[in-house]
Amino acid sequence: MTPSYEKSKALWQKAKEVIPLGVSSSFRFHGPENTRYVARAKGAYYWDVDGNRYIDYALAWGPVILGHAYDEVDNYVFEQVRMRGTTTALTTDLEVEAAEKFVAMCPCVEKVRLVNSGTEATMHALRLARGYTGRDKYIKFEGAYHGVHDYVLYSMYANPVPAYGTRRSPLPVPESSGIPKAVNSTVITVPYNDFEALDLALKRSWQDVAAILIEPVLGNCACIGPLEGYLEFIRQKCDEYGIVLIFDEVKTGFHLAKGGAQEYYKVIPDLATYAKAIGNGYPCAAFGGKKELMDMIAVGQVEQDGTYCGNVVSVAAINATLGKIMREPVLETIFARGRKLQEGLRSIFAEEGIPAIVTEHPAMFGVIFSETMPRDQREWENTEKAMLSKIVVEAQKRGISKHEVIREPYFLSYSHSDADIDETLNVMADVTHQVKATWKK
Ligand SMILES: Cc1ncc(COP(=O)(O)O)c(C=O)c1O
Repeated sequence: MTPSYEKSKALWQKAKEVIPLGVSSSFRFHGPENTRYVARAKGAYYWDVDGNRYIDYALAWGPVILGHAYDEVDNYVFEQVRMRGTTTALTTDLEVEAAEKFVAMCPCVEKVRLVNSGTEATMHALRLARGYTGRDKYIKFEGAYHGVHDYVLYSMYANPVPAYGTRRSPLPVPESSGIPKAVNSTVITVPYNDFEALDLALKRSWQDVAAILIEPVLGNCACIGPLEGYLEFIRQKCDEYGIVLIFDEVKTGFHLAKGGAQEYYKVIPDLATYAKAIGNGYPCAAFGGKKELMDMIAVGQVEQDGTYCGNVVSVAAINATLGKIMREPVLETIFARGRKLQEGLRSIFAEEGIPAIVTEHPAMFGVIFSETMPRDQREWENTEKAMLSKIVVEAQKRGISKHEVIREPYFLSYSHSDADIDETLNVMADVTHQVKATWKK
């Protein structure tokens, strides 16, 4: 049965009069018929304004690692805010506690600054790398997303891949009007996992390159992971040319391991950026790394400030969330449920005769319909996307929600139970069978 979205549709009609596209972030717009509005969320579920319940695997694009409206985190945040207010013009001991947690958990982090969003974190990390090296350019990988500031909105998905140019000579394609043309000359794009393309770009331009900024796993392109030796190769090239290596761990941080991708792959960057899962959905972020770099931050040196940086709400959320991940088998539990979901999905696709890849990491994985593993966005674009997209949309009508855009991962939280996974697999089996049976190219 098709669920009713009547109340969402009516709300969208009102919203579009006062909010562009009727949403506060354009990725939440799914057309006049399918832009849903949420009334309530708890644990692994949310309910839209029409009363439809969903098992949530989007989890706000990753932050909600413990579960929605998680009492332990919320109660601690409310208690701290009642006692301390939300922010003053001074620092709290909560910030020191949060910084100590990052230093304890994340291999590259010797010092850290707390900010408010992943966008802010990557912006500051890039500025710091430029301030340290005295160079202006940086290398970005096609298909990677690092937020919405001007320097990083290049070669992701708004433009067709053919616009990216050749592998030997890639073109950085801006994703938005309004980015000054001068910024284009500060970005060098290369395909992910292409050793030769990176080598060539560095041979041509290393004198101008301040940083290589990388999502160690392409969390914004179906979770394509690094080929063997790739991250090591990048580390070695950064050392050779005096370039700052920045891991953007906004998605991978605390989803791959307690110490993020750098712990999992045993490659240690100079700087790393964090957001999302560090605060279970409260708006918070951080960037940190080697003392030598971080100690350049000061007024009139490398600038980093912000009215809300280190505010009580965010930092209390970080301490409660990271504290729980440190103390309890949160990730182990999520991994066990994630593996069950991954294996279940693999069997369903195999039974239907659909060549499919379910990527590696159980707390954050992509599904790709292809015989072979794409190594980058260029190859991913040639996989069977329409059928997968149809399955995702049909599953959503049956209460299994992940972000409709198929390059976005399935995320799992500590609140997803075995029963939730069973229910999900039942629906996915049904929906996949129906879509496959009626599928015409
Ligand atoms: C890898 C990565 N970096 C940075 C960002 C930007 O974070 P925010 O949306 O908090 O600005 C995102 C957001 O999805 C992301 O996935």
